[in-house]
Amino acid sequence: MTQTPHLVVFSGSGISAESGIETFRASDGLWANHAVEDVATPEGFRRDPGRVLEFYNRRREQVRRARPNAAHKALAGLEQAGFRVSIITQNIDDLHERAGSKSVLHLHGEILTARSSVDARMRYPLPRGGIALGDLCDMGSQLRPDVVWFGEPVPLFDEACALVEEADFLLVVGTSLAVMPAALLLDYLNVEVPCALVDPNARALSPPGVQPLSATAGEGVPALTRQWQREGQLA
Ligand code: NAD
Ligand code: APR
Repeated sequence: MTQTPHLVVFSGSGISAESGIETFRASDGLWANHAVEDVATPEGFRRDPGRVLEFYNRRREQVRRARPNAAHKALAGLEQAGFRVSIITQNIDDLHERAGSKSVLHLHGEILTARSSVDARMRYPLPRGGIALGDLCDMGSQLRPDVVWFGEPVPLFDEACALVEEADFLLVVGTSLAVMPAALLLDYLNVEVPCALVDPNARALSPPGVQPLSATAGEGVPALTRQWQREGQLA
């Protein structure tokens, strides 16, 4: 018996852009208005934890207001139609899950949980109203968002590589492939396995061997999933 082909999706902030969440490196993106070293590094958190907590508390409210868009829904719909779909996302929002996707790996963590600032494995539900200075873990250290900051290890990287290695198709959506080690995931794909990038800037971003599909996520992803459902295969 042949196995159901496995679609692995690697998404970045662009997949949530049409849900109203800004990307990072656009001219009006998040990193144009905030210094990465202040709000997304362990050093920035040590210097001014209150500023970092406030930054993520605001972003969390934006995530809560956002709704899954046509791209998130198309991927969940493909899974509901019987395809095997695994999602690796760099996003800390929960829009893939809210659309109905069952297998979502958050490479850079999740904004909707809290963790200890001394032990990444000690996770906690979010305190009401977000994380405040003085909210402590069981070891008595300050709680922080359960996200990966620059300069920190990426605990789920090996698991993500293993998924890419067993893909029958890798669909990359809405990422500039600028951040390491996330961008290295593409190197783990078997050479004969097809890979496409859906991004308005796809032609400039696609590494050799990756098929560029210049479209927004909300247009390009449903077009692909409709085609796969019509043909009954990933091709
Ligand atoms: P780096 O060594 O500082 O960071 C890479 C490591 O941090 C990787 O393990 C990466 O996956 C991880 N990481 C931590 N937090 C992350 C997050 N929120 N999103 C994505 N990945 C995260 O190396 P680098 O990425 O080459 O960056 C070097 C420095 O350049 C950074 O520390 C930062 O100060 C700066 N930077 C600026 C921008 C920008 O757009 N302005 C973007 C990236 C990096
Ligand atoms: N549909 C698809 N792609 C889009 C859309 C859209 N509607 N709008 C913008 N994009 C694309 C942009 O062309 C760009 O290539 O999304 C990409 C976003 O790239 P970045 O802003 O660099 O975001 P991302 O690749 O997700 O960043 C990776 O950097 O700082 C960290 O934690 C952050 O996980 C993030 C990581």
